[in-house]
Amino acid sequence: MGLAPLWRQRDKPVIAAQVPAETAPSPAAAPAGDARALRIAAMGWDELKTAVAECRDCRLCEQRKQAVLGVGDIEADWLFVGEGPGAEEDEKGEPFVGQAGRLLDAMLAAIDLQRGKKVYIGNAVKCRPPGNRTPEAEETAACFPYLQRQIELIRPKLIVALGKPAAETLLDAEVKVGASRGRLFDYRGIPLIVTYHPAYLLRNLTDKAKAWEDLCFARRTLQGLNDVAR
Ligand code: URA
Repeated sequence: MGLAPLWRQRDKPVIAAQVPAETAPSPAAAPAGDARALRIAAMGWDELKTAVAECRDCRLCEQRKQAVLGVGDIEADWLFVGEGPGAEEDEKGEPFVGQAGRLLDAMLAAIDLQRGKKVYIGNAVKCRPPGNRTPEAEETAACFPYLQRQIELIRPKLIVALGKPAAETLLDAEVKVGASRGRLFDYRGIPLIVTYHPAYLLRNLTDKAKAWEDLCFARRTLQGLNDVAR
């Protein structure tokens, strides 16, 4: 299937890691003529689930067993965004249920969080990229309206982007994870923190300590927000 221009490819004009966090660009609103994006932007959870399950708007639909929308508390304070489903997620229909998922659960537990309790976990793309390759820009662009709508419905207090594809999708910029760590970005008024993807950490054990620092930074950020709100 060709990638019909149902969406407009977003430009990536800025390297996020070189931009002050406060001024990192938010993704542009859906172009006025983009009927698909506008339709998705008006969906509730039930419609969104159906639309994602039936989506055939990029080539990732061709080899998936099922689309994986996300899992967790739809009134979550925390939103963790990964890259895309792997084989086990494709099989089970839930994000992060494989080895990387077990590490993510341990990372959550380390800051007293639990999947499903004030935590929602989603992905930049909802269908498994064949062979677990990195999703193409056209694929993340096609899927982005779904993620946008999830974020609008959940309205999390903090977003944690797990790895480069998630960070680049959300910030609409080229991101170097190492250089973006420890900084507060902004996704449409919601603070966003970038850290390593759990699958990367499984291959690079020495960076686990950095991910731990990032989680502590995220926890402090959320506590600060809660204190201000009191
Ligand atoms: N990696 C991801 O980025 N997401 C998943 O759901 C599983 C593995």
